[in-house]
Amino acid sequence: MEEAGVNLPAAAAAGIGRMLVLGGGYTGRRCAAALARSGVAVTVTHRQAPQPTAAAGGPIPWLAFDPARGLLPDADALRDITHLLVTIPPDPEGRDPVLTHLGSLLDGLPLRWVGYLSTTGVYGDTGGAWVDESTPPAPGLGRSRARLACEQAWRDRNLPLQVFRLPAIYGPNRTPFASLQDGTARLVHKSGQVFCRIHVDDIVGAVLHNLALPASRRPGTLIVADAAPCPSSETLGFAAHLLGLPLPPAQRYEQIEGSMSPMARSFWSENRRVSSRLLQEQLGYRLRYPTYREGFRASLAEEMGATPPF
Ligand SMILES: NC(=O)c1ccc[n+]([C@@H]2O[C@H](COP(=O)([O-])OP(=O)(O)OC[C@H]3O[C@@H](n4cnc5c(N)ncnc54)[C@H](OP(=O)(O)O)[C@@H]3O)[C@@H](O)[C@H]2O)c1
Repeated sequence: MEEAGVNLPAAAAAGIGRMLVLGGGYTGRRCAAALARSGVAVTVTHRQAPQPTAAAGGPIPWLAFDPARGLLPDADALRDITHLLVTIPPDPEGRDPVLTHLGSLLDGLPLRWVGYLSTTGVYGDTGGAWVDESTPPAPGLGRSRARLACEQAWRDRNLPLQVFRLPAIYGPNRTPFASLQDGTARLVHKSGQVFCRIHVDDIVGAVLHNLALPASRRPGTLIVADAAPCPSSETLGFAAHLLGLPLPPAQRYEQIEGSMSPMARSFWSENRRVSSRLLQEQLGYRLRYPTYREGFRASLAEEMGATPPF
């Protein structure tokens, strides 16, 4: 099982007292599973009781965190948390749910590391030009402005914080395969437009890699992206090739823009290339999936029945 390779070295795992992963969604669950496999005492939060899974080593302990329903963990449940990984996005009002509802509890914790999963959307539209961690954020969308404000709210707490800025996350069951199979995939062309992406296991890998670094080497802001920004028509073409299916007819963006959802249009309204050279060249992380080609092959294998890790 390919994902089993994402592990934390034993010495680094031993240095973690107890990890809380806030938000056991797509990325949070996979991070929590990798940490648990590495021998870290990890707890994850959910809004609803998670589906039972066949996790190696048993299910991951969880706490309810759903501020909208008044479900908050109490101080006792969090008492010995030393490491936090925050995967929860801003709430509909643009506030950070964790700081808003657990902020005072965090003050009392012996935190030695906080990882916050953010988005490269904070860089806004660059017309396709490259950005890296030294590029000043210039969010153009309301949700990206909210995200930058949440990043800042975390920075203002003066915790040992690392902000991981992510492009589109893909991986098993977050691929174009299902839409190609059910006929809903769209092959859209917009001149010059590229998208950036990252396989979920490279987010897990980058987080674990940073946890294994000395604290003094962990950057406060880190882009985690693969090395192959490209048009979505290219990734769809490769996915169709892997499945042996024909591509849908090509459509020009300008002709179908009006039929797209506001969310879809917002994705197409920005064009940038994000660089993870800092992660790879200075911090020495080797991407497991440098391009969507390796990532799609592995995702398809897992979707087709390789045992999931949790
Ligand atoms: N998906 C992407 O392509 C992408 C790209 C860049 C950045 N990001 C960001 O990276 C992070 C991880 O992404 P993901 O795709 O793994 O996210 P995800 O699958 O949607 O997981 C998010 C988790 O946060 C929980 N959550 C959401 N709102 C909450 C709230 N108001 N109160 C309590 N819990 C809440 C969700 O609970 P439930 O399980 O109950 O829904 C879920 O466990 C997110 O912050 C996301 O915005 C995502």
